[in-house]
Amino acid sequence: MSLFNVYPLYDVTPVKAKDVYIYDDQGQSYLDLYGGHAVISIGHSHPKYVTAITNQLEQLGFYSNSIVNPLQIELANKLKVVSGCNDYELFLCNSGAEANENALKLASFHTQKSKVLAFKNGFHGRTSAAVAATDNRKIISPLNAQQKVDFVDLGDLESVEAILKQNQTCAIIVECIQGVGGLDQSTTAFYQGLEQLCKTYNTLLIADEVQSGFGRTGEFFAFQKHKITPDIISIAKGMGNGFPVGGILIYSEIKASFGLLGTTFGGNHLACAATLSVLEVLDQQQLMNNATDISEYFMEQAKKLPKLKAIKGRGLMLGLEFDFPISELRKTLIFKHHIFTGSSKNPNLIRILPPLTVKKSHIDMLIEALHSELK
Ligand SMILES: Cc1ncc(COP(=O)(O)O)c(C=O)c1O
Repeated sequence: MSLFNVYPLYDVTPVKAKDVYIYDDQGQSYLDLYGGHAVISIGHSHPKYVTAITNQLEQLGFYSNSIVNPLQIELANKLKVVSGCNDYELFLCNSGAEANENALKLASFHTQKSKVLAFKNGFHGRTSAAVAATDNRKIISPLNAQQKVDFVDLGDLESVEAILKQNQTCAIIVECIQGVGGLDQSTTAFYQGLEQLCKTYNTLLIADEVQSGFGRTGEFFAFQKHKITPDIISIAKGMGNGFPVGGILIYSEIKASFGLLGTTFGGNHLACAATLSVLEVLDQQQLMNNATDISEYFMEQAKKLPKLKAIKGRGLMLGLEFDFPISELRKTLIFKHHIFTGSSKNPNLIRILPPLTVKKSHIDMLIEALHSELK
């Protein structure tokens, strides 16, 4: 059987990884400034993470959500402490799309409305409601397109209000920093305006923190910079450092009832062990502070690059926008300099999403490589 060919692949076969490095089947090392798409938070194969998952597997790898799982309770408590998000409850699932799917569904249950408001250039995943709220016609099938979604420019509060006034919108879903879209963000006034409008018109505010959460921006969540309180926060990627896990934090006003949401694999014992160790390491190694420090260093160094139009993003969710398409440059970075970086919907933008353990010396390697190619 051949593989369903949906991924254009780089011809690299990683077989091992440690912290910020990946090693291929030829023994070549690569500096990972992509983090497997913002997934690697505490570094590849962190010893505490490996021990936590291994020990858990030796005890109990999986049982369904029909029994008591104390690890889920421990995880919810630890998440509250490390994130500073009080007054939320936790529902666990398996991926970012699934987190948003549950968030949107819950908003619709809660408000009894059926339209969604999303932003142009946003990305929320590939499942039914999540992909319908994603601004990319190419990945929305006719089946998904049956859902009712209004797309608005990020920053356009007037249009948001005009739509919410019609009293059909169950949720606004927003990335405070757009990941796949190319690291654009709006102002604190805009995000606070969304929060206010949601309250006025009985609409829930969903912060999609799938990519930006778990410390990547230097704060636990990107929305925290704007001092807002979303009704639902979706999480995944950095949460499991590669173990497939996702979830939503649900504000306490939204009430649970048996059977409202559910999943077979979500919140299983291994996923909880992985996430608990991520939270422990984030905290103990002060990785959010590292994200802030390295980000500042990155900005200082990167602004001297030739052909650079803008540095976008925050913390270790960064973009370098050039005045030319970057696809060849990315290939050169991989195959000549052995550095992984990411792309985005913006063809001129390189995305930098390293493990949060990255050091200044690794940034120097990227900057040197870019100088040598751009002169
Ligand atoms: C902001 C955001 N939301 C949702 C998703 C979907 O996550 P997943 O691929 O785990 O379904 C992504 C993935 O890139 C994302 O960046």
